[in-house]
Amino acid sequence: MRILLLNGPNLDLLGEREPDIYGDDTLGTLEAELAVQAEGLGCALRSVQSNHEGALIDAVHAARKDCDGIVLNPAGYGHTSIALRDALIAVRLPFVEVHLSNLAAREPFRHRTLTADVAVGRIDGFGIYGYHLALDALVHHLRARAAAYSEKN
Ligand code: DQA
Repeated sequence: MRILLLNGPNLDLLGEREPDIYGDDTLGTLEAELAVQAEGLGCALRSVQSNHEGALIDAVHAARKDCDGIVLNPAGYGHTSIALRDALIAVRLPFVEVHLSNLAAREPFRHRTLTADVAVGRIDGFGIYGYHLALDALVHHLRARAAAYSEKN
């Protein structure tokens, strides 16, 4: 099983960016922790971060060729990008949306994301731990789906 970990704009600045909201850990730490977790789950993990909407869409398109699912923090684009939502729907890969901060406790423009209703689910407010929950939940979802499929066929 292969998973894409996809992080959107400004998450390259984790650790220095508003640490009171996003924590002290860097993106490097996050990606390394997730890679260890993925290995333990028997999965391969590819990590991509971009500040550019088109590059995120390209990464989603590329994932349809060699990934089974996506852990996605769309960051600010989650609130604005119809194109990213369209790409996620187009590739039909299950994805779990994750946010470090608790969106419901923040400004009203962050309460809604354009991606959440097409995700398997959304996890927010748990910092980096939320990514671990998201990876676990995605792998659980993919395995349950595969088991249901093989029972039917
Ligand atoms: C974020 C929340 C978004 O509203 C914000 O634009 C981000 C980070 C989070 O992880 O909490 O860049 O996705």
